[in-house]
Amino acid sequence: MCGIVGYTGKKEASNILIDALKKLEYRGYDSAGIALWNNGKINIARIKGKVNDLKKEITGNGNLKGSMGLAHTRWATHGVPSERNAHPHRAADVVVVHNGIIENYLELKEKLKKKGHRFLSDTDTEVIPHLIVNHIREGLNFIDSVIATLKELKGSYALGIIREKKRVMIAAKKESPLVIGVADGEYFIASDIPALLDKTNRFIFLEDDDVAVMQDGKLSIFNIDGKKIERPVHTVHWTGAMAEKGGYKHFMLKEIFEQPRVISDTLIGRIKEEKGVVEFEELKLPDITKMKKIWMVACGTSYHACLIGKHMFESILSIPVETDIASEFRYRNPLVRKDEMLILISQSGETADTIAAMKEGKKRGAYTLSICNALGSTLARESDGTAFTHAGPEIGVASTKAFTTQLALLFLLMLHTGKKLNLLNSDEIRKNIGEIKKIPHKIQTILDMSPTLEDLARTYMKFKNFLYLGRGINYPTVKEGALKLKEVSYIHAEAYPAGEMKHGPIALIDEHLPVVVLSPGDQTYKKTCSNIEEVITRQGNLLLFTDNPDHEMAPKAKNTFFIPETIYPLQPIISVAPFQLFAYHIANLLGTDVDQPRNLAKSVTVE
Ligand code: AGP
Ligand code: GLU
Repeated sequence: MCGIVGYTGKKEASNILIDALKKLEYRGYDSAGIALWNNGKINIARIKGKVNDLKKEITGNGNLKGSMGLAHTRWATHGVPSERNAHPHRAADVVVVHNGIIENYLELKEKLKKKGHRFLSDTDTEVIPHLIVNHIREGLNFIDSVIATLKELKGSYALGIIREKKRVMIAAKKESPLVIGVADGEYFIASDIPALLDKTNRFIFLEDDDVAVMQDGKLSIFNIDGKKIERPVHTVHWTGAMAEKGGYKHFMLKEIFEQPRVISDTLIGRIKEEKGVVEFEELKLPDITKMKKIWMVACGTSYHACLIGKHMFESILSIPVETDIASEFRYRNPLVRKDEMLILISQSGETADTIAAMKEGKKRGAYTLSICNALGSTLARESDGTAFTHAGPEIGVASTKAFTTQLALLFLLMLHTGKKLNLLNSDEIRKNIGEIKKIPHKIQTILDMSPTLEDLARTYMKFKNFLYLGRGINYPTVKEGALKLKEVSYIHAEAYPAGEMKHGPIALIDEHLPVVVLSPGDQTYKKTCSNIEEVITRQGNLLLFTDNPDHEMAPKAKNTFFIPETIYPLQPIISVAPFQLFAYHIANLLGTDVDQPRNLAKSVTVE
């Protein structure tokens, strides 16, 4: 799940590559490297560390110049993060950057060693340039050597390949993302679109087993059998500024503050308040009346959106929804059938487990619908239908605005389904549309309270463990709150359904354990009050979040934060916002790497 970039054109490649690589750093950041082609010579620099360290390393180095090159920011899978394991990897005059995993690399390495190839790293990747060189030595040309190599690889790859002898750049992909940016007389390759937005808005989305050859200002794409194929050029309406911090200290903070706007963007064009309908023009949904069951499957934060989606569909439409974590779903025997709809949710659209779940569903005959944010992503392209959240590029590794736009979209989908099934009439839809339209403003009132949440963060930043409690539709909200805290501050936080606490976690409670409770004045109110009593009785340090200005437990809480009220299915979109800010401020005060927390990567493109 690293990031790769490549450039070939008339300009100086080093700055272009470093610039683009910085924008991909959220995908992986343990080591980085660059290779530059200059008049038939390729020079390489690699470091353990971040892209800025690489930039320092190459600044002023006259050898590291050229008009074609590749660069890489790594998230190690095979071989510890170190200079010698950093990409690019080289064999003779062939240089490669790779995102993915070569599963049969040990076997290939043994064979190559017997032929006299010497290996310098512990990575799986290094076999690739050696295999290419091996085929060149056997007499194949460069392109055919690459194709022959790809046929030998088992696993996943997005590859950038260059060679000293000729000014040609080759890109290939299988199960790892790769786009080609097209500009005037120049080509770029990158793991995703935001890396290139300030260079071009024209993109080709490569498919699995495509091999793209960029030579003499021309691009040709071949399939794995060497047959020429065509891929369309798409114009993308995202801008470079969307992938910048825009004055905020961190992307995470910027993205939290963007939520009112991007939620509105996700609603616009889909809600027709006067008509009392919700339309998805981009989506040709199958006849929903024939769908016998709905599944919602995803990973991480997107999985929390599934759990909330289940509550939305079940509470308003009384349609049963089964949810699962993609990595569990794909390895059990999920009883998905024809006439069922499998909804896959993913910000990146590149999460390996979610893509595999989609494939499993398709195999079993279900209609697969993806809810994605990243344009042109694998999940979006390969599922039967896609509805896009309009969150814009999300760069912070901790997902925030992607999550709330997923919830907004699920709510719209629920209304759309309700209408189709005659479970909701136009008046009911209109009322619900009226409620969701108020959400951006309500979130804004929470964002305006950011200084208060920062004060709370200062009070709580020294604690080592947190318990988060919620019930009903807000149990997934507290799961998301706890995940945010874990991810960015490295503080242990466990989320529990409030009513389940007495079955175990209650043993943890004493005055040293902050217990964060989300307790709205809904049907769960009274029961949660009792759970709070159980916490107070054991001297738990209660931090209460509620939309009820007269919450009877507020006087017993150490601190209370009030949030605006809304209808039950929309509560999580609002109530997650203070948790996002609370986690952000704790992390910022502790000085962690908020946008690129340790050990994490934005798109988990490996299993
Ligand atoms: C969110 O903060 C996480 N970094 C992570 O759990 C993420 O939601 C998960 O990896 C799924 O990603 P996706 O939405 O791109 O599929
Ligand atoms: N498997 C390769 C390595 O460990 C690439 C890792 C990645 O895609 O992040 O170097």
